Amino acid sequence: QQASVAATSPMGWNSWNHFAERVTDADVRAAADALVASGMRDAGYIYVNIDDTWEGKRDADGVIHTNEKFPDMKALADYVHSKGLKLGIYSSPGPKTCAGYEGSLGHEAQDAKTYAEWGIDYLKYDQCSFGDVIKQEAGDDLSKAAAMQREAYEKMHKAIQSTGRPMVYSYCQYGLYAVWKWAPEAGGNLWRTTGDISDNWDRMTLIGFSQAGLEKYAGPGHWNDPDMLEVGNGGMKKSEYEVHMSLWAMLAAPLLAGNDLSKMSDETREILMNKDAIAIDQDKLGKQGSRIWAEGPLEIWSKDLSGGKHAIALFNRGESALSFESAQQTLSQFKALRFRNVWTHAEARFDGKNITIPSHGVMLLKEY
Ligand code: GLA
Repeated sequence: QQASVAATSPMGWNSWNHFAERVTDADVRAAADALVASGMRDAGYIYVNIDDTWEGKRDADGVIHTNEKFPDMKALADYVHSKGLKLGIYSSPGPKTCAGYEGSLGHEAQDAKTYAEWGIDYLKYDQCSFGDVIKQEAGDDLSKAAAMQREAYEKMHKAIQSTGRPMVYSYCQYGLYAVWKWAPEAGGNLWRTTGDISDNWDRMTLIGFSQAGLEKYAGPGHWNDPDMLEVGNGGMKKSEYEVHMSLWAMLAAPLLAGNDLSKMSDETREILMNKDAIAIDQDKLGKQGSRIWAEGPLEIWSKDLSGGKHAIALFNRGESALSFESAQQTLSQFKALRFRNVWTHAEARFDGKNITIPSHGVMLLKEY
C-alpha cells in the first residue's frame, strides 16, 4: 500500500512555515482555493497539509477531536477533495506534539482510524516528546533508542495500513539515529534528514547542501526530506529562492510550499511553478542528484533523469560573482548535450566558454 503513494516526491502545501500555531480552517480552505486558482494544483501541488495545532482533546472513549480552530475536519476534507486536492494532517508518536498538543501515544490505531474516517490522505508523524520517552527508557543505549524509534514509527505505519486508506507517511525525525537507513523498510514514504528550515540563506543552504551523500537512500516511494519550502516568505531575495527551488529539485525533495498562497507575488508563483524545475524534481526515474564537484563556495550537482537525460546545477554560495574556470574538465563530460536554462529559458551548452555565476546564484540546466 505504501508503494502506491509517493512514486515521485510529494508536492503540495503545508501550513507550518507561514502560519505556524495560528493556522485555521479558513486558512486551509484559502490555501486549497489558491492552489487551484494559481494553477499550482495542475502543476502537481496536490497535498494540502495541516501541520501541528489542529488537535483538541480526547473524549471518554479516547477518540481525538479537533480544537476550535478546526470545527469540522470531515467537512474540511470534503471541501479539499472537491477541489481535486488531498488533505494531510500531523501527529506525534509521543504524548505531546512539538507545539504541546495531544499526541498519539497509546492511541495509534484509534487515531489512524479517525484520520481515515475524516478522509485524510497524508500523515506527518513528528517525534517531538517521544524523544523524552526514549531517553527515559533507553538512556545512553543508542541501539535501544534506535529500535524504540523504529518501533514507534512502524506501529503507526501498520495502523494506517489496517485502515485500508492509502496515506502518504512522512516521518519527522532526524539527528542521532540515521533514520534513512531503516525508514523505507518501516513504511516511511519520506523522512526528515535535518532540523527545521528557516526563511534565510544561511539556514536554507546549510540544510540543502548537507544532503550530499544521502542520495542512495532515496527512490520511488521513499524520499529524503530536507524540510519544506520557504519560497515567498520574504526572508530571501529572488536569486536565493531560485537556489532553494533548484537545490530541492536536484534533491528530488518534497516540494511543499510554505508561503501564504492567497497573497503570492508573480515572482513567487513563477519560482514555485517553473515547469522545468518541477520536472527535474518529479522525474519518474526517481534518482536524487549528487554533488560531482566543489571548490570553496562553488558546487556542481548532477541528477540523472529518465530517458538517459541529465540536469546540472552550478551553484555559487559565495558573496561575489565567481567563475567556474577550474571546473572545465568536470563540465567537459557534458559538452555533447543540449540544455535549457531553467530560470532564463535560454538554450545552453558546455562549449568550454567560461561560466560566471552571481553571488548566491545558480545556473540550473535541464537536458532536452
Ligand atoms: C517540528 C517540525 C516542524 C513543525 C513543528 C510543529 O519543529 O520539525 O516541521 O512540524 O514541529 O510543532
